[in-house]
Amino acid sequence: MISEPLIENDNLDIPFHLAIIMDGNGRWAKSKGYPRVAGHRKGAEAARLAVENSIKYGVRYLTLYSFSSENWRRPVDEVNDIMGLLREYLLNQMNELHSSGVRLRVIGERDNLASDINLLIEEGEMSTKSNTTLELVIALSYGSRSEIVNATKRILNNVDLGVVKPREINEILFESYLDTAGIPNPDLLIRTSGEKRLSNFLLWQLAYTELVFLDVLWPDFGEPDFIKALFEFTQRERRFGSINSNKIDKN
Ligand code: IPE
Ligand code: IPE
Ligand code: MG
Repeated sequence: MISEPLIENDNLDIPFHLAIIMDGNGRWAKSKGYPRVAGHRKGAEAARLAVENSIKYGVRYLTLYSFSSENWRRPVDEVNDIMGLLREYLLNQMNELHSSGVRLRVIGERDNLASDINLLIEEGEMSTKSNTTLELVIALSYGSRSEIVNATKRILNNVDLGVVKPREINEILFESYLDTAGIPNPDLLIRTSGEKRLSNFLLWQLAYTELVFLDVLWPDFGEPDFIKALFEFTQRERRFGSINSNKIDKN
């Protein structure tokens, strides 16, 4: 049970990297008697607000789980609706993201996405690559197990080519082959909707991340919930296996 914030916002510890499993769009729509797509539309708006709040509170990396590799199993109409909203988001939001100093990066299996979406992603990544206020990482058609398997295959391929020697394989090298290469591990993970599982999200990267599960459905997630999660994070003592607490994963 998460208690209500009792401290001033300026006493909050701010995660350097915040990752969010944005769950509950379907249940939000159902509770209102709307089609599921209405939940996804409102969810896209909540994602826009989460970017705004991340900038406002000084988060430097925000990773949003937008579509998992397993979400392709959903009915084709729902998948098309979600892809349509993503297309809209990329078309309508890129200018605003750019002028707010946001750098876009997309992780996941791009081969599964429509070519026009891939083009929008490439343009968005290219045009924002010098921005430094916030790095927005969108996990799209992303699955952590296949990310790890793909990294392993690429390392083995480089071993075959003689570029990597087996004795050089360590955690640092392995991380450099993941989709998240160069991105620090998340300090805080928020999952909305009351589910308490990772659903194949960043399994390697979340090894020492603080996990906060909120009952709010994603479309309703706004600044009060954002602060609530930061408050919970502020209460945590991170140890990384040691006996001293430390706020940031130095990895
Ligand atoms: C999250 O909401 C959005 C995606 C997975 C794309 P859901 O669509 O999973 O919503 P629920 O879990 O059915 O309520
Ligand atoms: C995880 O939510 C994926 C995203 C939020 C994009 P799901 O709704 O797909 O997860 P499960 O199926 O409940 O585990
Ligand atoms: Mg769900």
